[in-house]
Formats: sequence, C-alpha cells, structure tokens
Amino acid sequence: MILYYTSTGNSLYIAKQLGGELISIPQALKEDNLIFEDDVIGIVCPDYSAELPRTVRKFLEKATLKADYVYVIITYGKLDSIVAYWTKEFAQKHGIHLDYVNTVLMVDNWLPSFDMFEEMAIDKEIPKQLENIKKDIKIRKKFVKGYTIEDKTAWESVSKRNRESPEWTDGTALHCDIDKCNGCGICTKVCPVGRNIIKDGKRFEVTNKCDFCLGCIHACPRNAFYLTINDKNPNARYRNPNINIKEIMDANNQR
Ligand SMILES: Cc1cc2nc3c(=O)[nH]c(=O)nc-3n(C[C@H](O)[C@H](O)[C@H](O)COP(=O)(O)O)c2cc1C
Repeated sequence: MILYYTSTGNSLYIAKQLGGELISIPQALKEDNLIFEDDVIGIVCPDYSAELPRTVRKFLEKATLKADYVYVIITYGKLDSIVAYWTKEFAQKHGIHLDYVNTVLMVDNWLPSFDMFEEMAIDKEIPKQLENIKKDIKIRKKFVKGYTIEDKTAWESVSKRNRESPEWTDGTALHCDIDKCNGCGICTKVCPVGRNIIKDGKRFEVTNKCDFCLGCIHACPRNAFYLTINDKNPNARYRNPNINIKEIMDANNQR
C-alpha cells in the first residue's frame, strides 16, 4: 500500500512505479478512520522547503500505520537538504516509526526559482534512482538519508524566510486574473485543500488555507494564475509527462 500526495505528478509517478494499492492522502483525510494496515506501507510526497506539505503533516499527525516496514520517498528538484531526517523526526513525534526515508531528484516545480522549460530539459536519471530505491525496499533496508552542515544552514535560512514572510508559504501570493479565467474549474479540482472556488463562472480566491503546492497555477489551461512573488518564467508551467490531469484531479479534488 502506498499513500501519496502530489501537485504536479512527480510523486504520483514514483508511487505508480513502486507499485501496489495507491491511496491519495488528501482523499484519505476526508475519512474519520485513518488506520492503515499492510505488510509494507509506503508514503510518497514532495519536499517543501526541506519539510513536508501541510496536508501530509496533518495526515501523519492523525494516522495510525500498522506494518512490518514503513518507508517514505520524498521527491525534490534541487536540494533535499535535511528533509529525510526532518521527516523521520516528525513522524516519530507523532508515533510513526519510519524504517527507510530516501529522496528522488526530479523536475523542480518551484516557480519562483526555476524555469520549467529549463528544468524539463535536464536528465535527472530518474530510472537509475528508482532502481536503487526498489532494491532497497525489496530487502527492507533500514536507512535514512543523511545531511551536511551546509544542508542544515540552507534549511535554517529558508525556514527563517518562511516564518518572517508568510506569503512564501500561505498562498496569499497566488492570484487569478479574472479576465483570463473562463471558470473551467480545473484549479479547484487539482487543489488538495479545496482552496479555489468557482462561483458565477469565475474563480474566487480563498486565502486562509493553502499548501502553496502551486498545483492550480501549473494546471490552469489559460495561464490565468500569477504570483506576486518572483515567477522565473510566467509562460512555463509543468505536469509530469507520465501523469494526466485527471489523475491529479482524482487525487486532490475536495468537492
Ligand atoms: C512550496 C514548494 C517548496 C519546495 N521546496 C523545495 C525544496 O526545498 N527543495 C527542492 O529540491 N525542491 C523543492 N520543491 C520542488 C518539489 O519538491 C518537486 O518539484 C517535487 O518533485 C514536486 O512533486 P509533485 O509533482 O508530486 O507535486 C518545492 C516545491 C514547492 C511547490
């Protein structure tokens, strides 16, 4: 069994490659019963500032995982810094023992720093990374990816920025140009927290809950969304080429 969270499809792609029953974390959170039981349980999700998305943290705070072996695979785009260690500690604090925590380097969907066209042109050798992880899981290897002093310093500086400037995490920097919006509702369906609301054929912003996953901005077919923090290339958006939009909507739709 694999529990997953995805905004642009990277983590869902990895979850599918690892195989087994797939359960979306945003959909699982709709249920009261968050007890999961299997021989092996995996969690696959993205790295957000060397921590985990709010929705995944909320899930780990509430869930009970009954398994002989529990692993977490975190997808990231540039620097995974302390994310594996952070995840192990966070889960432990909430009563979940993790046997294996590793990361996979993929396209970085963080629009403030990366041009999606440039990112998509880089070969990050995903099949090779996956093969190694599959081998580890098969033998139930115990492992948590380590970090360097520089990694810790990088995490501390990003955490400080996120604390001092909430617009880097809370979604208030994410807006829709209503003149471009045709009310197709895709932004609402790809949202893991049900933030976007379409009313009278137009999108209305609800800023009080957001993972800042950027899923709506990446998925909007009219490129109606814009960021009031830096956007490296406003014309370049991303979805993992092996994942279709329906799979992301099915994973996240809260309505
Ligand atoms: C809010 C946010 C923060 C991110 N922080 C990091 C980071 O600190 N390091 C990194 O390498 N990638 C970071 N990324 C990139 C994603 O972790 C990466 O693209 C991931 O594979 C996306 O997975 P998904 O397609 O399943 O949503 C961030 C992305 C977002 C949206």
